[in-house]
Amino acid sequence: YPSEVIRNFSIIAHIDHGKSTLADRLLELTGTVPKLRKDNQQVLDKLKVERERGITVKAQTASMFYSYMNKRYLLNLIDTPGHVDFSWEVARSLAACQGALLLVDATQGVQAQTLSVFHVAKEKGLVIVPILNKIDLPAAQPELMAAQMQSTFGVDPSDILHISAKTGKGIENVLQAIIERIPPPASASAKNDNRLKAFLFDSSYDRYRGVISLVSIQSGVLQKGDRIQSMATSKRYEVTDLGIMSPEEKPTASLREGQVGWMVCGMKDSAEAHVGDTMHRVGETVEPMPGFKLAKAMVYAGIFPVDSNDFVKLEESIKRLTLTDRSVTVSRESSTALGQGCRLGFLGTLHMDVFRQRLEDEYDANVIITAPTVPYKVIYRDREQLVSNPTDFPDVTDTSNKVVEVQEPVVNASIIVPEEYLGEMMDLCFAHRAEEMDYRYLDVSGVTSSRILLKAVMPLSEIVTDFFDKLKSRSSGFASFDYEDAGYKASNLAKMVFLINGKPVDALALIVHRSAEQAVGRAWVKKLHKVIPRQLFEVPIQAAIGKKIVARETLSAMRADVTAGLYGGHHERKLKHLENQKESKRRMKKIGSVDLPQEAFFDILSSK
Ligand code: GTP
Repeated sequence: YPSEVIRNFSIIAHIDHGKSTLADRLLELTGTVPKLRKDNQQVLDKLKVERERGITVKAQTASMFYSYMNKRYLLNLIDTPGHVDFSWEVARSLAACQGALLLVDATQGVQAQTLSVFHVAKEKGLVIVPILNKIDLPAAQPELMAAQMQSTFGVDPSDILHISAKTGKGIENVLQAIIERIPPPASASAKNDNRLKAFLFDSSYDRYRGVISLVSIQSGVLQKGDRIQSMATSKRYEVTDLGIMSPEEKPTASLREGQVGWMVCGMKDSAEAHVGDTMHRVGETVEPMPGFKLAKAMVYAGIFPVDSNDFVKLEESIKRLTLTDRSVTVSRESSTALGQGCRLGFLGTLHMDVFRQRLEDEYDANVIITAPTVPYKVIYRDREQLVSNPTDFPDVTDTSNKVVEVQEPVVNASIIVPEEYLGEMMDLCFAHRAEEMDYRYLDVSGVTSSRILLKAVMPLSEIVTDFFDKLKSRSSGFASFDYEDAGYKASNLAKMVFLINGKPVDALALIVHRSAEQAVGRAWVKKLHKVIPRQLFEVPIQAAIGKKIVARETLSAMRADVTAGLYGGHHERKLKHLENQKESKRRMKKIGSVDLPQEAFFDILSSK
């Protein structure tokens, strides 16, 4: 396949605008897969979690063949994930493309993620093919949405394709537009350069074969038996197997310039497959492709087995899962309240949910995942510390700790919402410490309900918990939301510690903004008061910042005889009750002189 008949493209869209459905239709129409058995059974979404949540988590790639004007074309679809947590995956898969299908739901119009993925694609210099989907729906407003795309993206309405990925209407036009509008990959052989240069843009892990890398061949030919070398690590490998994705892995004899495919080369661990790496032949030198930033963990959570005897099993399951998902970071964590566990770092909260679900599938015992926290930067007079666990956060009120400043990660948030919800959304953002708020109308005039793009700088910690749920419910589901990393910003934060009978409980420490310390402290001591069983003596429950107590509740003392209140005092029933008490004693944790059932912690700490 000379590069002039190759097209590398992605589909970019907001969640639910029909990316997977369109991909399915393209695969069908090109005969890559037989016509689907069931309506809307998506071929490209492989993970069970993905199917259940209806989102694409892992980028998938497929090659198709299509004949047009008496020429046979090789079309490589590089699928991109559709969620904010994975925007770095979007960026890296787009680097292997020359064009992108910008898909917009004709009933919904441009949404927050449509904007963010559009900007990434534009930055990469890709040709954009604008498409309005779901025109079969009665609620579709193609003319209005076309005008909106024109004003937002500067596209000519006559260039916009109108399709229904569901019914298949207009799909041929999409294939033709891919061929006619998207340029073929630049040919290196035209410049007489036949040195192998393979760009690694994704990888997966297979228990038997090890790492399977997805590569895009920039120049030269990759074949079985080739000795190749990584530019990132200088490690050498021998290619043992390779082929195209069609849509499953299909072995081929070689991969040539312009092609996209998979290869196995004896990498044992996914950590060896550096996304953004350039592979070349041993003994040759090439210019590396511009590198990629490594995925950064932005959300951390502790994970503990409910039964502490299960720790080894839990850790093994986590290790197995991280083999297939390098973006999760793992370290050990132990806590007096919860015992031995692991601290995991995720790209975002969805990433965390997906991992949790995979873990539950893989590992058939109960685990508790603590509420998510973000990495803080603590600046001391002479050094800097990144703190991803509140327990390690210093007491900033103690001047002997020499803390100059505390910084927290912030994001540029974008919300798109019908104008009648603007006030509600601004309130929500303010309540979550938004700054530099700004908005503009997205729609052209003359529309009954205009939509607004609201922008703000917000602390990441404010959006990792339930911000998205609140946003959805307070806008009746109409708001869409996206964010991008905006670095760190100084903030007035402190560690809040909870004391039970004067003893601090490590697992409960949290970082609060000083403006909210009263409210947060009060809410938490109330919660604790509810779940901690009464003891034989009075127990104070306090929230403290440094030496200052900001909230307090008192648990009154209980009478010693648990059976005293039992009606009738039947002997057997009495015995049973004592038995139960013994059983729950086993699962008690001691904080100072106070016995606490582990369940109390689970109730409080569970992020669910
Ligand atoms: P993510 O994987 O979450 O990014 O979503 P997606 O963009 O891949 O959307 P998907 O293809 O899963 O489609 C979302 C929903 O819209 C599904 O219920 C589809 O059946 C439906 N849908 C997609 N295209 C059309 C269309 O042209 N018409 C109608 N009526 N429904 C469609």
